[in-house]
Amino acid sequence: MSHGIRRAAQLLSEARRVVCLTGAGASAESGVPTFRDAQTGLYANLDPMELASAQAFRRDPGFVWRWYMQRFGRLQDVIPNQGHLALAELETFVPSFLVVTQNVDDLHERAGSIDVVHLHGNIARYRCHDCRHPYELSEAEIAAEEPPNCPDCGDLIRPDVVWFGEELPPELLARARQAATDCQVMLVVGTSGSVYPAADIPYWAKTSGATVIDVNPEATPISRMADLFLRGPSGEILPEILDALELFRPGEVDDGDDDY
Ligand code: APR
Repeated sequence: MSHGIRRAAQLLSEARRVVCLTGAGASAESGVPTFRDAQTGLYANLDPMELASAQAFRRDPGFVWRWYMQRFGRLQDVIPNQGHLALAELETFVPSFLVVTQNVDDLHERAGSIDVVHLHGNIARYRCHDCRHPYELSEAEIAAEEPPNCPDCGDLIRPDVVWFGEELPPELLARARQAATDCQVMLVVGTSGSVYPAADIPYWAKTSGATVIDVNPEATPISRMADLFLRGPSGEILPEILDALELFRPGEVDDGDDDY
């Protein structure tokens, strides 16, 4: 067991309030491409920022619609990975544990995480672009070339996600900020820290006195400011932390011998 894993387990075992900020990397081992992975197929060489925006949707609703239907369809075939499952079990050791995710999939919930805030929305939910009327898609509409129209105002139906240039739901951001400034440990998993205001959250925690742990196979600005950077895939690192927690459960004897 590495020193970093043991240290992370000790910090989490002592914390009463933990916030875990996740990004696309947390879903990568489930087979969900991250945003900065090369786009595949029809959308190869297209920057997601050119697709996930109101301007792109207005310019060519069908093109953006088909990109979302392709991603939505892919999510039906994936399952939570070992990192999601370890996170859900980790929550049971901590009195207050909030997952704040930038991801629009529901893999945290499917893994058993109880309290999840979706800062950027959820690709399984749809609504009217103008009046925000919630909308349930039919199988035919999922397979359609163009988005349906709102039954209330007639505008186009779109995914209930936050597009570039759009405001995050203020009540969700306020909840994330309050939790970040109140926690003892901020666990950051699988984010490049390149999109704001989500990328501010670890800094809010750090300046409020929390210990920041970053889990990522690559160094990022967050790993450089973190108190503890655990370099590796979350599907491996998080289960190792969970295993190490056993050392710090009341009544466990930490013999201090490193297993390897
Ligand atoms: N485990 C942990 N981290 C991983 C893994 C893995 N198995 N594989 C990749 N990563 C890391 C990458 O090193 C990268 O730092 O996940 C991060 C993914 O970064 P992005 O693709 O930028 O995704 P994210 O940080 O979530 O992007 C934030 O940007 O595109 C917008 O709204 C979108 O929510 C998204 C936001």
